[in-house]
Amino acid sequence: MKEIKLESTLYVYDDINELPEDVQSLMAQAQKARIKAYAPYSKFLVGAALLLENGEVITGNNQENASYPSGLCAERTVIYYAGAQYPDSKIIRMALIAGSAQSQTMVPIPPCGACRQAIAEYEVKQNAPIEIYFMGETGKVVKSNSLSDLLPLIFDRSFLK
Ligand code: THU
Repeated sequence: MKEIKLESTLYVYDDINELPEDVQSLMAQAQKARIKAYAPYSKFLVGAALLLENGEVITGNNQENASYPSGLCAERTVIYYAGAQYPDSKIIRMALIAGSAQSQTMVPIPPCGACRQAIAEYEVKQNAPIEIYFMGETGKVVKSNSLSDLLPLIFDRSFLK
């Protein structure tokens, strides 16, 4: 038996104003998308903005459904749109902002497991890391240099042989 330790590094900013200006502006676009989320059931609104290598910014939000499992998170909404519209443009970074419409969310909200798996697919596809910044409505912002810091041991195409 051998013990394996997995290590990840995340960076925590105390406030959005500490972020580089271009990242602040990406987060502002995520917030614009967030307030347009369709979340009548959970009332938990999530906005996502992607910066592509070609300079385009794509935004998306969560889309819920009366049949709850048919809804989709903001992260997958935005990344599948980018994959459909710009299949050859690498994704540089993703900004995420999330919070309840009923109370103020002051802690950083990380992407759910299913979204991490979806983002992982695009890191593998483009063979380059995707930076991820996530926050609540206010407060600290967490940065991950790569999805692999949020989801070690991904299931990827290499196992399908
Ligand atoms: N949600 C996201 O959009 N992204 C996540 O990573 C976590 C959860 C959405 C799904 C659902 O509409 C609501 O937040 C509550 O789970």
